[in-house]
Amino acid sequence: MYNSKIVGLGYYVPESVVTNDELSTMMDTNDEWIQERTGIKERRWVKDSGETTSTMGVKAAKVAIERAGIDKDDIDFIVFATLSPDLYFPGPGVQVQEALAIKTVGAIDIRNQCSGFVYGIAVADQFIKTGMYKNILVVGSELHSHGLDKTTRGRGVSVIFGDGAGAAVLTREEDRSKGILSTHLHSQGEHAEELTLKAPGMGKRWVNDIIADNDPNDESYYPYMNGKFVFKNAVLRFSEVIMEGLMANKLKVEDIDMLIPHQANLRISQFIQKKFKLQDRQVFNNIQNYGNTTAASIPIALTEAWELGKIKEGDTVVLAAFGSGFTWGSVIIKW
Ligand code: UT7
Repeated sequence: MYNSKIVGLGYYVPESVVTNDELSTMMDTNDEWIQERTGIKERRWVKDSGETTSTMGVKAAKVAIERAGIDKDDIDFIVFATLSPDLYFPGPGVQVQEALAIKTVGAIDIRNQCSGFVYGIAVADQFIKTGMYKNILVVGSELHSHGLDKTTRGRGVSVIFGDGAGAAVLTREEDRSKGILSTHLHSQGEHAEELTLKAPGMGKRWVNDIIADNDPNDESYYPYMNGKFVFKNAVLRFSEVIMEGLMANKLKVEDIDMLIPHQANLRISQFIQKKFKLQDRQVFNNIQNYGNTTAASIPIALTEAWELGKIKEGDTVVLAAFGSGFTWGSVIIKW
């Protein structure tokens, strides 16, 4: 058995900055409400740049591979997490394989929304642990802006989400006291429809139904979120799964050098920080600049924190996520 460790990180965000003021020209919202309730100042949208979930993922992946100091042909497996694939199927993992001209290695797609990157890391870690693969590329990428209801009707959801991508290269670590120490995954399907996008889906409304009804009031193809309910569950599950990870490794809250929470809402991160009595230097947030980029939020934040020198060798780094499903999870890393 081996451990896996992150040896390369990268991110890509579209150039177009969309401020809260710009949103208020599309819907009845304002900078004060958005900042007070979410902490978000601006987000990136692909607009008409032609970028997609897969192309942004490829850009982030290129940086991660270069920083890992490996050749693309050394990659043994691709894991791609997203809720906004370019195509209904196949998922974007294969598009990364093609765009990077990586030999015909396996590519798997993870559909766990905000927890997607944590689930992706857990999957990659297992393959490396067993010795099956040595180097794995994990990508989290999201294009929300084309699928949001940008009218006042959708303001409770659409002001939160942004576009972007992040990626990590994991490799084999023979010293089992280093790298990814453990991963912890959970789900609770009874709340699947509290944060969901119902259409198109074979079970609810397929494209034919949408076209046949031609109903301008049909909201089934916009994301729905029961915000307050999601918020309450998020703070509970974030806390639980961080503690679960720490206890599994006989660590204490004081041992955390850097917590990278999924960037769902700054108030959620601040609640966790306060609850665990963490200092500002122990928690990294960048939701202010990018909004909630679901599967991309942790790898973008992790990369930025690392680029800023906030993560050093030997540090205990904790990743934690919660989102649609509900699904949630944590990753405990000795950097
Ligand atoms: O990443 C996956 C996990 N997602 C999350 O963790 C998100 C969790 N939830 C949240 O972050 C928060 O619930 C939201 C930010 C989505 C909403 O904040 P809230 O404090 O729960 O507000 P609310 O939905 O209860 O709305 C309060 C008021 C309502 O008006 P009334 O009924 O009190 O008159 C809304 O209509 O604010 C209104 N409102 C807005 N006003 C201006 C809702 N959205 C907006 C908006 N601008 N964008």
